[in-house]
Amino acid sequence: MRARLDEIVASALQQGSAVPAFTCYDFTTAMAVVSAAEESGRGVILLVAPKTAATPNGLRLITALRGLADAAAVPVSVQLDHASDLDVILAAVAAGADSVLADGSSLPYEDNIALVRQVRAELTARGRADVVLEAELGGLAGDEDRAFGEGAEGDAAGNDSIGLTDSAQVEDFVAQTGAQLLAVAVGNVHGKYKGKPELRWEVLQDIAVRTHIPLVLHGASGIPGEELVKAPAMNVGKVNFNTELRTGVLSTLETETAAHRADGENLQGLLARWNDSAKDFAASALAMLTR
Ligand code: 13P
Repeated sequence: MRARLDEIVASALQQGSAVPAFTCYDFTTAMAVVSAAEESGRGVILLVAPKTAATPNGLRLITALRGLADAAAVPVSVQLDHASDLDVILAAVAAGADSVLADGSSLPYEDNIALVRQVRAELTARGRADVVLEAELGGLAGDEDRAFGEGAEGDAAGNDSIGLTDSAQVEDFVAQTGAQLLAVAVGNVHGKYKGKPELRWEVLQDIAVRTHIPLVLHGASGIPGEELVKAPAMNVGKVNFNTELRTGVLSTLETETAAHRADGENLQGLLARWNDSAKDFAASALAMLTR
């Protein structure tokens, strides 16, 4: 069943867990993620990248994912990830996204606030005050859609070069934006980590005591499960995965395509392996984050 993103997250946090969110570029992956969630009996979040949403087919994908959420046996939310373009945001919401990460994290502080407020105002003006808004404070290194191993520019101990969230700004930022969830930069990066990921738990802890809204950890691919399970205790209720899911699907396609080509151009069979790969990864992330 379709559910509000903030409610899925709140109910997971109440149980000491976080909800995994997975970037879906296609319907096969999304179906696999929802199947894994249904088998685990847990809610899940389907993320759509802004570059996907900026295309007509991307908007059709959002509508299809919304249908998938409606028909699911567990709570599912569809979120437009990392968006700053108002036209893309409004189109994605009209297509079926029920939540948006209004991402002004690359902008100066006041402009970041102004972006989130503008998104809220435009949605409210269109009768869509129900759309759940996540905002981001601090900047994550790396690319959201591609992984070159360039993600960890910050040194393992400090990571200052990637723009850690300034915890002193958190209270004001949340009050001024009215954000319902806050994505933070605490040593996490999009894409691949060059070395061992070193999350700055003391920064996360400091952020957690300054706001009551749930926190979001992006760039979870590559962070060991024993680290991720510590996050809900610091009010991290949503954990975003993309790279590891993508890597698994691509590896599967690489190893399986020739055999399925030889097997009578068997696309059905290949899609089944694609499903298995995405579903296995989603199931492992759900199990990792569940208490
Ligand atoms: P990774 O690609 O590092 O898993 O990050 C995903 C993400 O944060 C999507 O918003």
